[in-house]
Amino acid sequence: MRYEKWYQKNTASLGGKVAVVTGGNSGIGFCAARGFLYLGARVVLACRNEARAAAAREQLLGEFPQGVVETASLDLADNASIDAFSLEMGERYGKIDIFLHCAGVYYPREAKTKDGLPMTEGVNTWGTLRLAKAMLPFMDDSCRMIFTTSLVDRFGKEQCPVGEGYAAYARSKYLLSAFVLRSARARAAGEPLFIATHPGITATSLLSPEKTTHKPLFSRLGHAFLYLFTHAPEKAALTAVLAAAGKVPNGACIGPRGIFGISGYPHHTAFCKNVCRRAAKKVALSNDENEKNTCADAPSVLY
Ligand SMILES: NC(=O)c1ccc[n+]([C@@H]2O[C@H](COP(=O)([O-])OP(=O)(O)OC[C@H]3O[C@@H](n4cnc5c(N)ncnc54)[C@H](OP(=O)(O)O)[C@@H]3O)[C@@H](O)[C@H]2O)c1
Repeated sequence: MRYEKWYQKNTASLGGKVAVVTGGNSGIGFCAARGFLYLGARVVLACRNEARAAAAREQLLGEFPQGVVETASLDLADNASIDAFSLEMGERYGKIDIFLHCAGVYYPREAKTKDGLPMTEGVNTWGTLRLAKAMLPFMDDSCRMIFTTSLVDRFGKEQCPVGEGYAAYARSKYLLSAFVLRSARARAAGEPLFIATHPGITATSLLSPEKTTHKPLFSRLGHAFLYLFTHAPEKAALTAVLAAAGKVPNGACIGPRGIFGISGYPHHTAFCKNVCRRAAKKVALSNDENEKNTCADAPSVLY
């Protein structure tokens, strides 16, 4: 196992625990799932594509033949799928010890969820929050709900043109980070720990033209640049592993400890000012009609 010494020093066993990972078939989610499996958890890969989920499961079982890896269907761009998935999780497992929200997208051009929201914000923020709320009945104060945000949350603006692109991605993570902080502060008895992680920067399929609307040349150049100059997805995923199996309090924000938080081993870091301001607002709604409509789906602690 890569980073074995780090694991020995910083993590506890996850034996006997159920760990669900959204986007567990790819990139950071896949690497986090591998880490959870290594620590003994029963791992559930929550994925939108059955074939990719099955391939990831096979790869993990190849590495950990004694491990338990299951898959479940989840499309965060479809409210009906989110609702069906959460019911299934409750029926299958009863209690979810660790829930890692890792699935995310970055669409550069117009795309919509099944429910008509802009895709990037629809998946990264509103789908994720709807799912978080739906999972709360299956988690208690011994559990951890972990969210994957981004360094770019600090550049998220309250208002941005509805649609896709960098501004929408930054805003989706800004709102998500604010949600985590606010939920952690308002955490009621019996609720899980709310923890934010950001992986720094790493080369994954986030810019893949097959999965999004990125142009192939941009995607290839972007991927090559990130591959050369940033850390590996396995290392980026250590932030999630620490959040799940390390000594981490409610409301923690975990990110890489290297320069500008771009790479390196994970450490406790702080939410940026922008996010703190948003989290402190009494009324969390913006004037955006989409947001107003979908805020009803967010965990009640937010509002
Ligand atoms: N890479 C970075 O530098 C970086 C930096 C900061 C934050 N992040 C965040 O890290 C998380 C993981 O991204 P990654 O870099 O590992 O990219 P990735 O390899 O593309 O992984 C994204 C995962 O999300 C899944 N997903 C996308 N849309 C979904 C939907 N509608 N429903 C369910 N699952 C969906 C993807 O499934 P498919 O395989 O089927 O597409 C994939 O498993 C994201 O939240 C991303 O925003 C990444």
